[in-house]
Amino acid sequence: MTIDSLVRPNIKALKPYRAARHDHVSGVLLDANENSFGSALSFEGLELNRYPDPYQLELRSKLGLLYGVQSENVFLGVGSDEAIDLLIRIFCEPASDSILVIEPTYGMYRVAAGINNVAVRSVLLTDDFQIDLPATLKALKPRTKIVFCCSPNNPTANVLRREDILTLCNQANALVVVDEAYLDFADSPSLADRVGSVSNLVVLRTLSKAWGLAGIRLGCAIADPDIISLMLKIKAPYNINALTSAEASKALENRALIKRTTAAIVAERGRLYGALRTIPYIRQVYPSDANFLLIRCDDASVVYSRLAQKGIIVRDRSSEPKLANCLRITVGTPEQNDLLIKAMKELTP
Ligand SMILES: Cc1ncc(COP(=O)(O)O)c(C=O)c1O
Repeated sequence: MTIDSLVRPNIKALKPYRAARHDHVSGVLLDANENSFGSALSFEGLELNRYPDPYQLELRSKLGLLYGVQSENVFLGVGSDEAIDLLIRIFCEPASDSILVIEPTYGMYRVAAGINNVAVRSVLLTDDFQIDLPATLKALKPRTKIVFCCSPNNPTANVLRREDILTLCNQANALVVVDEAYLDFADSPSLADRVGSVSNLVVLRTLSKAWGLAGIRLGCAIADPDIISLMLKIKAPYNINALTSAEASKALENRALIKRTTAAIVAERGRLYGALRTIPYIRQVYPSDANFLLIRCDDASVVYSRLAQKGIIVRDRSSEPKLANCLRITVGTPEQNDLLIKAMKELTP
């Protein structure tokens, strides 16, 4: 299998838009119909009247350093959600190709496919929320172009077995996208170290979780340079704005701080896990490799609404396959977790 054989013919043939800033970033810039007089906003010396760098070379190399890959292995997106959408658009022919999701999992894979009129095939995780390899391999059809694996998986919170993902990469005539949005909270290595040797593997990372930067919208795809080139070819020319880029660059200097807050979240996760396990109407608290816990209650909808009445909002995942009566709870600050534990102990559904 070659990646080229999976790409939609119209994407291969596409002549990408060439924006002004692809060609010039300095000089007397009268080429992009920007406002030469300046902007209504000044922010830390940034030239906000100018379109931002379409290639994002500096930031891509910084994220490459963070994730242990070269800058040509890195695509930057408006959150990893943008990468999910672009991958579907590159590889899946509307009304004819499909993606495969391993459910219950993050809902955007299904939605992004739906928006693009791409069919969704689905297979269930095993009862211990791992990949059911025989069922997953069987569910792959000739027109299945992408398999999405979320590890740690949202909402089940566990890391998927690395060997299973690599077996999928090896056996599937499709792209295997491993969404590692929550990996910073896990004690497991990233699969990013395999993109050099596994040509159909794409790893997604995001600054929205451990880095606490959901508001600036920055995520990345890590893959073989051929896949990255295709993503760069079809993205909107200026997808990453100048403010996001500048703030992300600064944030990346704070690695030690992020390590400390991640450790604090993991410690709170352990405390919350212990406390929730003592509550009689909670039947199960699942182990977590992420910044949230999945719990199974006697009656999740009652717990959900009673907590909401007290102003504590969690996510009801009960309608997902295998997750009857399950709630997903994000680990909060120690104070927020105290409030949650107190409220949950007081509930007698
Ligand atoms: C598994 C998973 N992937 C991706 C995302 C979206 O990340 P981003 O903010 O980078 O778009 C989320 C957000 O909740 C998520 O749970």
